[in-house]
Amino acid sequence: MFTKNDKFVTSHLSQHSEWGIPMPNHKKNYVTAAKFMLHGGDYNPDQWLDRPDILEEDMKLMKLAHTNAFSVGIFAWSTLEPEEGVYHFEWLDKIFENIHSIGGRVILATPSGARPAWMSKKYPEVLRVNAARVKQLHGGRHNHCFTSEVYREKTQKINRLLAEKYGNHPALLMWHISNEYGGECHCETCQEAFREYLKIKYNHDLKTLNDSWWGPFWSHTISEWSQVESPSPIGESMVHGMNLDWRRFVTDQTISFYEHEIVPLRELTPTIPITTNFMADTRELIPFQGLDYSKFAKHLDVISWDAYPAWHNDWTTTADLASKVGFMNDLYRSLKQQPFLLMESTPSCVNWHDVNKSKRPGMHLLSSMQMIAHGSDSVLYFQWRKSRGSSEKFHGAVVDHDNSRENRVFKDVTQVGQTLEKLSGVIGTNRPAEVAVFYDWESNWAINDAQGFGVRTKLYPETVQKHYKAFWERDIPVDVITKEHDFSSYKLLIVPMLYLVSEKTISRFKEFVANGGTIVMTYISGLVNEHDLTYLGGWHKDLQEIFGIKPVETDTLYPSDQNSVTFRGTTYQLNDYATIIEVATATVEGIYEDDFYAQTPAVTSHQYQAGKAYYIGGRLEHAFQQAFYQDLIDELSLKPVFHVKHGEGVSVQVRQSPESDYIFIMNFTEEKQPIVFETIVRDLITGEAMEGELTLEKYEVRIVEKTNEV
Ligand code: GLA
Repeated sequence: MFTKNDKFVTSHLSQHSEWGIPMPNHKKNYVTAAKFMLHGGDYNPDQWLDRPDILEEDMKLMKLAHTNAFSVGIFAWSTLEPEEGVYHFEWLDKIFENIHSIGGRVILATPSGARPAWMSKKYPEVLRVNAARVKQLHGGRHNHCFTSEVYREKTQKINRLLAEKYGNHPALLMWHISNEYGGECHCETCQEAFREYLKIKYNHDLKTLNDSWWGPFWSHTISEWSQVESPSPIGESMVHGMNLDWRRFVTDQTISFYEHEIVPLRELTPTIPITTNFMADTRELIPFQGLDYSKFAKHLDVISWDAYPAWHNDWTTTADLASKVGFMNDLYRSLKQQPFLLMESTPSCVNWHDVNKSKRPGMHLLSSMQMIAHGSDSVLYFQWRKSRGSSEKFHGAVVDHDNSRENRVFKDVTQVGQTLEKLSGVIGTNRPAEVAVFYDWESNWAINDAQGFGVRTKLYPETVQKHYKAFWERDIPVDVITKEHDFSSYKLLIVPMLYLVSEKTISRFKEFVANGGTIVMTYISGLVNEHDLTYLGGWHKDLQEIFGIKPVETDTLYPSDQNSVTFRGTTYQLNDYATIIEVATATVEGIYEDDFYAQTPAVTSHQYQAGKAYYIGGRLEHAFQQAFYQDLIDELSLKPVFHVKHGEGVSVQVRQSPESDYIFIMNFTEEKQPIVFETIVRDLITGEAMEGELTLEKYEVRIVEKTNEV
């Protein structure tokens, strides 16, 4: 599967800039930030300007901690421009010089994530209006109007000044645009922009809009564009087509704001890569739901994201959480099919989980290396130094209030820095995969909107993650792709719970299977089109053709309801959903055991032209996924890149270059784990050659290299 051309070579890029950074012309395969693994994080010297001793100490500690890259200025607008048009850059000049003097690099942030109070006071239009139409006061962060001309203009101006001032500074490495874009504004300017967006989308034709929004329902037909109002708890929230369009608009408007921010940066610093930090939702890590990142990704040179899993929690195993981290990484890596950056993580604890537990010994190195294993070229933290006041004063940081270099966290960070320095060969390498799991932001919005099924059991992202996990457990690399991707080259495409799917995507699935691909689809898939309108006349005829079945009814169960499915001789527990299937030309592989659909088909397979299509009708316990996918793994000869014999909870993930495979063997359990290598490899950290049996300690990670014959 791996070819030389897949390698994301940094060397051919080095002609473009000193750091090996390619021209961000969006044509090159890969934009890496640097020729070294980035280690460092959010640095907020603007909070410490009256403590030059601390700023000086920072430089010493940065060197000691083996750190090299710092995101500066993220929330520094009030320090950079304390009064309108009055700029203070001297402190930032000094910080650039300081970081440069220790050989470090600056990831320079644009400050639009939070604005100075003078701006809110003088230009109240920058303030966000919430869905209930309440204008927000100044305060907090990430709360501006993305449409406001004033905010756009002010942002562009300060960004231009930053680019003029630091664009040629040798320490400048990348741009960090704003911070964790999110949220939405419902002010009158945004309403107007929404109406304009709809006019373009629906060709200035209200009939098309009303048809797409199923207008006559509850008399919701619109007769003038001015009647359109964004979804609101005090107004309209039941028109699903509109809700979907509003979310699409919010994504587009956020991207448009971002594009506006970067105009001076592209103009003045065309060789400096641009990123913005993406998020995950909840401590359990599902993709951030507010924005469609599959669209946003195209506008970035590098994907970066902020990962804060709640390790050592009391609701799931370490291995289960690790598989979710793996999923998130493989999703964000696959967005651009290139390595990404871990922009924020905590070296110890956060301040916003219900219980802000510290990482146990070993977990910091293990969790950091897991990010690298799945494609990150960095380990960056929030935050370098704990702030003294306000809400994040107890959030984990490299440097604590005691300024100690002897404490556990500082030592853990240093160990990660030393380890990263030995991983230079890994930079820029990817993880080619033959299996793709399909994730769709729009479908997630739509299914969450659907008033039907179980309120608490839709769990679309979680379901996709469970299917991913079956491969994670077997060390088989997976790309997590979206409809934006070409999926023709995968052997296996897994499409769990794709509630919303357009005819265009259905025809791409058809082509994929016709050409020899294997597809797996589940219950609650293919119910509505891109307007969230149901397909009429039963399941889409192309899906019926591919799968040789017709799902006719989906039964939603109470948590106490029991059912099961017998599949290839074994019976598995079923919860939440059971789809009743009418078989046309498919083969029945599993049957329901109970209820009015007992002994009817639950799992089917179907040969469609050169490929095969499987349908799973019920939500089944994980052992089913394990058995089902094991059979497919055998049938399709899917293999781990590197074979290590191990027990449950150990994960082996590989990054590949034509010359070498870099293998990360990680113990996500609280016990010692015996492992067996069948090939001689070299430990990248100790240099020793390894073969045969070995024991991994609790949370231990080993990183080994296998040299390939080129
Ligand atoms: C986010 C933000 C940071 C910080 C961290 C705390 O990721 O981007 O500024 O607030 O959360 O975990």
